[in-house]
Amino acid sequence: MILLFEGDVMNINEIIRKKRDQYELSKEEISFFVSEYSNGNIPDYQMASLLMAIYLNGMSEDEIYNLTIEMAKSGEIIDLSKIEGIKVDKHSTGGIGDKVTLVVLPLVASLGVPIAKMSGRGLGYTQGTIDKLEAINGFRTNLDFNEFISNINDIGISIMGQSEKVAIADKKIYALRDATETVESIPLIASSIMSKKIAAGADKILLEVTFGSGAFMASEERAKLLGEIMVNIGNKVGKETVAVITNMNQPLGRFCGNALEVKEAIDILKGNGEEDVMTVCTWIAAHMLRLAGKGDNIANNIKLIQNQIKNREGLRKLKQLIALQGGDVNVIEYPELLDTASIKLEVPATHRGYVSSINTQEIGNAVVKLGGGRLKKDDEIDKSVGIEVCKKIGDFVEAGETIIIVHANEERKAKSVVGMIQDAYEYSDKEVERYREIVDII
Ligand code: URA
Repeated sequence: MILLFEGDVMNINEIIRKKRDQYELSKEEISFFVSEYSNGNIPDYQMASLLMAIYLNGMSEDEIYNLTIEMAKSGEIIDLSKIEGIKVDKHSTGGIGDKVTLVVLPLVASLGVPIAKMSGRGLGYTQGTIDKLEAINGFRTNLDFNEFISNINDIGISIMGQSEKVAIADKKIYALRDATETVESIPLIASSIMSKKIAAGADKILLEVTFGSGAFMASEERAKLLGEIMVNIGNKVGKETVAVITNMNQPLGRFCGNALEVKEAIDILKGNGEEDVMTVCTWIAAHMLRLAGKGDNIANNIKLIQNQIKNREGLRKLKQLIALQGGDVNVIEYPELLDTASIKLEVPATHRGYVSSINTQEIGNAVVKLGGGRLKKDDEIDKSVGIEVCKKIGDFVEAGETIIIVHANEERKAKSVVGMIQDAYEYSDKEVERYREIVDII
């Protein structure tokens, strides 16, 4: 197809050829394919070919920046100016058992940082904050924008579903990437995430960039590279950005699954969190406080956050959030009011030894198989099911000892994940070192 663009002839075939042959695309060429694809003037087969060329040949920093800006401009840019104070957004590149948002946002809000958070739903082995919050009876996430702003001005925090109007081009391109095996590309991931963050309107951005067997980025090096690129984009648009690089080679905390993670988040806010999830939450919260101008000393900020757990102010903020968005606040005192699965099946270790690795993605897949996650965007999910992780890397187990408890509603489904969970665990005769959850701050 041939189209006119600012007096020049711009041609999608030429753009594909240029990228295929490893040339850099200009800002105008990037703007052209983003807008023409969004408008339906470039067919999927040509866009798929371009995405594969980007996947294989990469992009320069300028190209990634221009792609980000064009995708951000493809939809609404949210105006948060009616909220006073420095708004800090938080985003995770995804993990298994990653309930950090549920814990960190109320904690940070309880110290006066306005939180205007748009979140997504889970797809495939990754889970989403919106599904977790909707595990609370009555909790509404489909707020209109005025209610969202008014909630934040009222109690300092609101969480709503991702607006359909934000970064429209990203939605279309992401769906095509999903269907063409071009998701795991650093330029495409960086521009996809940052276009949505820029459009979401916050002043500053905290990114949790995960790596390992339960994350998009397999290695620490790739996670750092992705973090650096996203931090540079954020800083370049004037939104100070920090990336916390975290290890996702095993599930975070004890539970994976929607209602189970809400229960765990409540428990963490009561001071009963497992050490790994506690560390990640306090560090991320401490950096959000710094970005919000609440103190430059991270060690002091960590103490402030620990205090908000001890004095239950974080928990109180979560309760206010639940109340204002129509949820049943009794879950705070009585988490057993959340939907609970009827079957608990213990999965025994196949070997004696130290747990040396866990294929974390397979744990996420097991949650999907139990009905707790979706394979297609519109699949219904069972909020009550999930996985309870009893043994983690470095733990010693006897053969036959329980490594995981499956929470299920159908015996057939519970039994169907036993083999995959057992296969996900590896053991060593020698002691295995426990790893650090947070490996870098960029
Ligand atoms: N999350 C996103 O929003 N986009 C990606 O490309 C990957 C993860």
